Amino acid sequence: MTPHHPTAIPDGAVPPPGCPAHVERSGLQRLAEITDPSGTYEDLRRRYGAVAPVLLHGDIPAWLVLGYRENLDVMRTPRLYARDSRHWIAFQEGRVAADSPLVPMVGWQPMCAFVDGAEHARLRSAVVDSLDAISRHGMRRYVKYFTHQLVARFAESGRADLVGDFVERLPMLVASRIIGMSPDKGPLLVEPTLDLIRGSETAPASNRLVTRVLEDLVAHKASSPGEMDLATRLLAHDSALDRTEVVEHLRLILVAAHQNTVNLLTQTLRLILTDEGFRGRLSGGTLTLPEALDQVMWDNPSLNVLPGRWALADHTLAGQQIKKGDMLLMGIAAAHVDPEQRPDLTVSMSGNRAHLALGSGPHACPGGDIGRAIADTGIEVLFELLPDIHLAVPNSEIRITTDWMTSRPSALPVAFTPRRSADISPQQPPRQAAGPLPPSKESVEPPTTPSPRPSKRWRRLLSRARTTV
Ligand code: HEM
Repeated sequence: MTPHHPTAIPDGAVPPPGCPAHVERSGLQRLAEITDPSGTYEDLRRRYGAVAPVLLHGDIPAWLVLGYRENLDVMRTPRLYARDSRHWIAFQEGRVAADSPLVPMVGWQPMCAFVDGAEHARLRSAVVDSLDAISRHGMRRYVKYFTHQLVARFAESGRADLVGDFVERLPMLVASRIIGMSPDKGPLLVEPTLDLIRGSETAPASNRLVTRVLEDLVAHKASSPGEMDLATRLLAHDSALDRTEVVEHLRLILVAAHQNTVNLLTQTLRLILTDEGFRGRLSGGTLTLPEALDQVMWDNPSLNVLPGRWALADHTLAGQQIKKGDMLLMGIAAAHVDPEQRPDLTVSMSGNRAHLALGSGPHACPGGDIGRAIADTGIEVLFELLPDIHLAVPNSEIRITTDWMTSRPSALPVAFTPRRSADISPQQPPRQAAGPLPPSKESVEPPTTPSPRPSKRWRRLLSRARTTV
C-alpha cells in the first residue's frame, strides 16, 4: 500500500484541474467519473488498502474510506472527525467554486447534520423527539392512501415506470403529510423538491419555492398548532429552535426522507422483480420484507458514498497520513463488501442490522424506521393492487444511473393486467396521524427479537407475480 496524502498535490506543480494529465500525473481516481462503482472501489482497495486518496469535482482531493472497521471508527469518533464542513481546508482556502456540485451536499447549513457537540445535541434532540412522536400506525395509513392514489393514475393503462410513476413520488407525499402539510397542499411540494434534489437549472427557483411553502407552513403552525405534525412539534420543543431552524430542519427531513427512501424502494423492487431466488424466499415465508430490506441495504445501500467528515487533527488512519482539515468520504458500499467484515458475499445478511446504510455514531439516521415503513408498506400495497405486475423489459435492459454518491435503476418499466382507476382510488385522505407510539430505537439498535413471518396473504400475492430475468 502506498501512503499518499491528498493535500500533497501542490496546486502550481500540476496541470489545471479538469485536465486528464492531472489525473495521470497524480494517479488519483476522480469520483465524478466513476461508471462502475464496485469495480472502482475494489481497485482502490487493492492499490491503497482501507483508505484511498481520490479527487472530487474540481479535482479537490479527499480520502475515501473503504474498510468497514475504519468507516465505523470515523463515524463513531466525533472528537477527531467533525460533521461540520466549515473545518474543510478547501473551503477555508477558497478552492470550492460557488457553483460546484459539491456545495449543495457539503456547503455548511444551520442544521443538525452540519454541527457537532452541544449544538448538535440541541438540534438533534428536537428532530428525534418529534420523529418519535409520529404514530407509526397513522403513517402507514398515509403510505397506503398515497400508494392507492398513485397506482390509480396508471392502473388503467396496464403499464408504468415504477421509478417515475410510483417510487419517486411516494416518500415525498408521505413526508409532506408528516411535516404537517394539508392533503391538498402536500403534493405541491413534490415537483419542486425533486427538482432541487436533481440540481437542475431551475433548482434555485424550486429551492425558493420549497422554502416559501415551508415558511408559510411554520408561520401557520406557530399561530394555530396542529396535533402531531413535525412542524408543530419542532416549534414547541424544549430546544427552543427559532423559525429559521425549524424551516431548515423540515427541509432536511423532506430531502433525507425522499432521497434515501427512493433508493431503498427502487433497489428492493428491482430485486423482487428480477431475482427469482429472492422472490421465492419472500413468497415461501423464509424471508420477511423488513428482513429483505436489510439485505438490500447491505448490497445496494441508498448512498454508496456519504460525504463527509472533516479531520480535526493530523493523524494516521489505516496507514494514510490524514491532515487537519482534510475531508473523508464514508464509503458505505465499499465497507459492505470489505472482505475482512464479509468474507463470503453469498451468506445472507437479511435481518442483519450491522450495516452502515443508516450511518452510525452521533449522526446516525434518526428516520430509518420511517423510511423502512414507507418501503415495506408501499411495496406490500403495490403488489396487493397489481398482483401480476412484472418487468416489461429484460433485466439486462434496466439502465443504472450512477453519480459520485449513488447508483440505482433510472427506470423500472412494468406491465400488469389493467384495472379500473375507480376501483383503486382511495376514498378519504387519512386524518392527522393519531396518538404517539413509544419511541422507536429501530434505526440505531439491532432488534433482539426475530421479525414475524410474512402474512399468508403477502406470500400468496408474491407467488402470483412473475419474475423477469
Ligand atoms: C431508509 C431510508 C433512509 C436511509 C438509508 C437514510 C440514511 C441516512 C444517512 C446515511 C445519514 C447520515 C448519517 C451520518 O452522517 O452518519 C442520515 C441522516 C439523517 N437522516 Fe436519514 N435515511 C433514511 C430515511 C430518513 C427519513 C425517512 C428521515 C426523516 C423522516 C431521515 C432523516 C435524517 C436526518 C434528520 C439525518 C441527520 C441526522 C444527524 O446529522 O444527526 N432519514 N440518513
